[in-house]
Amino acid sequence: AAVVEHTFVVSQMNVRHLCKETLVTVVNGQLPGPAIEITEGDSVAVLLVNKSPYNITIHWHGVKQWLNCWADGVPMVTQRPILPNHNFTYMFNVIGHEGTLWWHAHVPFLRATLHGALIIRPRHGASSYPFPKPHREVPIIIGDWWELDLPQVGWNMKHGSFDFFASGSTINGKLGDLFNCSGVAEDNYVLDVEPGKTYLLRVINAGLFSEFYLKIAGHKFTVVAADAHYVSPYTTDVIAIAPGETVDALVVANAPPGRFYMVALPNQAPLPDTQTPEYTTRGMVQYSRNHSRSGANGAAALMSTHGAKEEEEEEGPSGDVAVAPEMPGHHDTITSFYFHSNLTSLHHPLVPQRVDEHLFIVLGLGSVCKHGRQSCKREDTNETILVATMNNISFQHPVATTPLLEAHYYHTGGRNAMEELPDQPPRVFNFTDLDLIPFGPKEMQLEPSSKATVVRRFRHGAVVDMVFQSTAMLQGDSNPMHLHGHDMFLLAEGLGNYDAAKDMTRFNLVNPPVKNTVLVPNLGWAAIRFVANNPGVWFMHCHYEFHLVMGMAAVFIVEDGTTADTSLPPPPVDFATCFGNCDNVLP
Ligand code: C2O
Repeated sequence: AAVVEHTFVVSQMNVRHLCKETLVTVVNGQLPGPAIEITEGDSVAVLLVNKSPYNITIHWHGVKQWLNCWADGVPMVTQRPILPNHNFTYMFNVIGHEGTLWWHAHVPFLRATLHGALIIRPRHGASSYPFPKPHREVPIIIGDWWELDLPQVGWNMKHGSFDFFASGSTINGKLGDLFNCSGVAEDNYVLDVEPGKTYLLRVINAGLFSEFYLKIAGHKFTVVAADAHYVSPYTTDVIAIAPGETVDALVVANAPPGRFYMVALPNQAPLPDTQTPEYTTRGMVQYSRNHSRSGANGAAALMSTHGAKEEEEEEGPSGDVAVAPEMPGHHDTITSFYFHSNLTSLHHPLVPQRVDEHLFIVLGLGSVCKHGRQSCKREDTNETILVATMNNISFQHPVATTPLLEAHYYHTGGRNAMEELPDQPPRVFNFTDLDLIPFGPKEMQLEPSSKATVVRRFRHGAVVDMVFQSTAMLQGDSNPMHLHGHDMFLLAEGLGNYDAAKDMTRFNLVNPPVKNTVLVPNLGWAAIRFVANNPGVWFMHCHYEFHLVMGMAAVFIVEDGTTADTSLPPPPVDFATCFGNCDNVLP
């Protein structure tokens, strides 16, 4: 196995979109950032040089960091953030994954522009894919474009202000021609294809706020992997992908040659109804020039087979016509539910059948008193802040002390400030009945929440079942729940309230998909199982940036095993420790 080395220089540059220059924070002057391409089993060494004004960490999303929690990149959870004009080297192996993962900054909101693909090919080369070898492999990174000062937005959100929106969505950094300013359309991302060839799209949702539907007019996808684990080939005309998830899909260029829009539609952004469709971005799949003459006929032929479903749009330079796909509705959550429920593992993973711990985690919103006070007038919204919660506790980042991993490893402090994550919510109610759940900040007074650095400790090797229950309080949001350091078996998901007696019988213990990010359906639940066998301190959180910043997070501590090869080794020699001195290092 090789050592793949990269240098990531984080700096700021101006990027022009929508007639406006915006100062953004990027790696190596690229947006999206550089892709890391490796073979399974390789080691990766990334020297991060921080030339930005912010404190930064990078998280290698989905990489297990086996016995290597020190490289997980969560500020004040696993490491002290890298200060401006400082460097840090991340070193890790990638074992047990094939497909697509990604990397991103793990400081509030900066992942909008600090992210890139992590591509993992099989040890025996592309010919050992469990599907026909593609002609080309193409990362498709869906993201947001912001014209705001993102760390400031994150800070505001943490303090209860919500008056901000992205300016648009992007595919590989391009907004696409549905966005324009003064009549000049933004560029489309263009994928050139040759007729008859197969393309492997490595789709990543790097967006902060939205699940997306991805379609290509006139083409179908065959999904072959999710979260860098192979799935049974699944043919669909639409991919549903939540923030944090990755999907590998084959596309065969088997349409009559022409131009076909690739559309990414945000399907449930927390935005007013009327605004959401405007965030739709589109790229173009374009058959190679030699064939584009027949494009007009090709498109016309397609029109007749697809009837009114797909519309002709916009004439290309050579007079051919681009075809746009018919998209699901932007509040259609069912299509996403079915997409995710249809995934099964290609290889039967070994799912442990004996379970040691059961956690029932209710995802919700609540309110806490401002300024850390214990009591306040709940009816006065100036005195309270809206927070996102797990079992009614909103995660308090450990700011003014020592990173939790360091405290855990050296057995120093940190514990007093921590509170155990309860296995159950404080009270039981009907979670998804819209009539029973109070809405709005005023009524939130009914759900006083607490703020704490919540942790849950697991004995090494414990088999843990977790049910994530969504609630009506979330008002239409699904929740992509991400666990660091471990993969999860997605056993089942459903709509409505989880009912153990009935729903446990539906658990897929044979070929459940193996995921690092599990989408809990809107007004529904998801049941997962994982083996807590990677010693360290691991973050577990919703991958919507606003839910994360508002506290929908917890920390899992996995204890050491009894042997050296089941225990967390000491930190790398150059690891910057705090020993109680890292005050106010978060952006
Ligand atoms: Cu992709 Cu903790 O994040």
